[in-house]
Amino acid sequence: MKELLDRLIEKNKPLTDKGQVASYIPALKKANPKDLGICILDIEGNLYCAGDYDRKFTMQSISKVMALILALMDNGERVFERVGMKPADYAFNSLYKLDLPHGDKPANPMINAGAIVTTSLIKGEGEEKFDRLLKLLREISSNQHIKYNEEVYLSEKATADKNRAIAYLLKNKGLLEGDVEEILNAYFKQCSIEVDCIDLARIGIFLASKGRPLGSDEKLVDEEIINTSLAIMTSCGMYDYSGEYLAQVGIPAKSGVAGGVLAVVPNRFGIGVYAPALDQYGNSLAGLELLKDLSKELKLSIFS
Ligand code: DON
Repeated sequence: MKELLDRLIEKNKPLTDKGQVASYIPALKKANPKDLGICILDIEGNLYCAGDYDRKFTMQSISKVMALILALMDNGERVFERVGMKPADYAFNSLYKLDLPHGDKPANPMINAGAIVTTSLIKGEGEEKFDRLLKLLREISSNQHIKYNEEVYLSEKATADKNRAIAYLLKNKGLLEGDVEEILNAYFKQCSIEVDCIDLARIGIFLASKGRPLGSDEKLVDEEIINTSLAIMTSCGMYDYSGEYLAQVGIPAKSGVAGGVLAVVPNRFGIGVYAPALDQYGNSLAGLELLKDLSKELKLSIFS
């Protein structure tokens, strides 16, 4: 496995030149566009890593999976009264359709509008929403050291006019309850949680083993919630590239604009990938190509 990962890193490394590091959150510009790393953790606990797997990066939209899980734990299926389950054929940060006269709810919890709704549905006042999400994430990944990156958080908070517009529109439509700035702060903080590829692989194995952290028999989350979250990652995790991704790679996954990808092969593997140079959809360009090769070599597609 290690040789395979080394070979695929070497093959895909040149693709890092073809993407662009995100710049709309100024602090993300500091990433090295040439980085490419991967870790794969199997259900027995064997970990294989290659490339720049030990770089730290912020979860960004990968945290939307955790917000969905916690919102479902807190509210059950009522979450879907405020956010849909449909793939969207428009950008992750779009306001499109939110202001239609019949009042469309956000298409799914993986786009920004949907994730702001799921974060709002996490129980707790003030800092409590974020603290509960961080606590769950630490348990899921068996890493008590995970924390958020203050610089990235403040950088996003200072430049988030579009997310602010989305959130206030959601409030106006009756889809968001509570203090909008407080909800946005929780959302920006969850996006700024810092991880590496090993953490993502551990989160992946938790999802792959239907709610059990690695090496534990304790089910932290109901299997039904995990299955719903995996289904939504599968259909919506790569935004308007989700259909192509599913056909070409076929592994439930969620990307983040800092370049991380969390991928889950149910009952088998948790995978963490990092390559900050992005494609036009805001997904890790070399990261997805690496996953495509890995999926082909090991027949990992859920359809194979
Ligand atoms: O809300 C935002 O724009 C970011 N904090 C997260 C977006 C993101 O990660 C999109 N992903 N590829």
